[in-house]
Amino acid sequence: MSVIAGKIEKFLSGASWIRKMFEEGDRLRKIHGADKVYDFTLGNPVNEPPEKFHRELKKLADSPIPGMHRYMSNAGYPETRQAVAEILSESSGLNVTLKHVVMTVGAGGGLNVVLKSILNPGDEVIVLAPYFVEYKFYIDNHSGVAREVSTDENFLPDIEAISSAVNQKTRAIIINSPNNPTGVVYPPAVLSELDKLVSEKSRQYGRPIYVISDEPYAKIAYDVQVPCVFKYINNAVIVTSHSKDLALPGERIGYVAANPNIDNVDLLIEALVFCNRTLGFVNAPALMQRLVANLQKESVNIEEYRAKRDLLYNNLTQLGFEMVKPQGAFYLFPKSPLDDDVEFARLALKHNILVVPGAGFGKRGYFRLAYCIDKKVIENSLPAWKALASELKLKK
Ligand SMILES: Cc1ncc(COP(=O)(O)O)c(C=O)c1O
Repeated sequence: MSVIAGKIEKFLSGASWIRKMFEEGDRLRKIHGADKVYDFTLGNPVNEPPEKFHRELKKLADSPIPGMHRYMSNAGYPETRQAVAEILSESSGLNVTLKHVVMTVGAGGGLNVVLKSILNPGDEVIVLAPYFVEYKFYIDNHSGVAREVSTDENFLPDIEAISSAVNQKTRAIIINSPNNPTGVVYPPAVLSELDKLVSEKSRQYGRPIYVISDEPYAKIAYDVQVPCVFKYINNAVIVTSHSKDLALPGERIGYVAANPNIDNVDLLIEALVFCNRTLGFVNAPALMQRLVANLQKESVNIEEYRAKRDLLYNNLTQLGFEMVKPQGAFYLFPKSPLDDDVEFARLALKHNILVVPGAGFGKRGYFRLAYCIDKKVIENSLPAWKALASELKLKK
């Protein structure tokens, strides 16, 4: 008899592809040396937080505020929520106030808080493949059922396919723009279509269907401005964090914000605050809340990411790899030159290149590259990519 829950045992045996490749990378590093292994698997940025973060941190350490390490309101500090609300009001044109904002333990914590707040057992949540793989586990945490719907050939939501998947059990649709793993940014027209669909279906089934907009990459965009979902989707709940835009993934700081026009939004917020507490988070980290209150207009250097995207995209497309040019986040999601993306990932390993097969994101036939790594690693990897392309007899 197992010492752990059967369900978790099953999840563990299907261990994440990212983790598997990471372990493979460790093995290769031991054999060839770290500088000869080109690891594109992890979305763990190598860059440091903006300078202002360190200045604010020092200021707080030098002049501690009495009580700053105590418990607080489970929603978070009013000053921090106010700072977030101001940014959201500016970008949406709506009157977002601090009462619509709950500080959370990253976007991961925030997604769990939202799902716990809205799901009844057996409720369905639509996820758009390819997707961030943790969504499935988060949905399962709260007795929900993930329903996968494929995106279109440009990785944009396929409104007709989503419409066919919605039924009386549908409670939410998770969207993620800029997207992990594709880097695609959803334009306003797509968000408006989603709003129309969700409003109609909510009316038809007599209860709200929410659009959960998971957007930790919202500030990392190159050729476009990422539209604010509150402007386009009435039933939207934003979930985000400063893991990527301020390069603070280890600090676990993020927030959930509800569109003020959601029906009975006060009750929804009450549920979010309750679930933030009872999931055991209690509140988002106090020190980080103090800091990010003054950093809402800051971000890491986006031009560095653009340079890395261009370097990798231009070189790989010249070698014959095919992909949608990403407009944001820090991932590329090329087509696998072999039908079997796992076989392709194994072949890439022979050239010391580590990628994650599309299977890890619910989309076979592709692979993901995370380019939030040192630019030198990308540059040094180019001969290996060339050798791989030549082994595969890709054109040019
Ligand atoms: C799409 C997406 N959502 C959520 C998260 C979780 O981020 P956090 O560190 O804020 O929990 C990640 C992290 O990689 C992500 O890529």
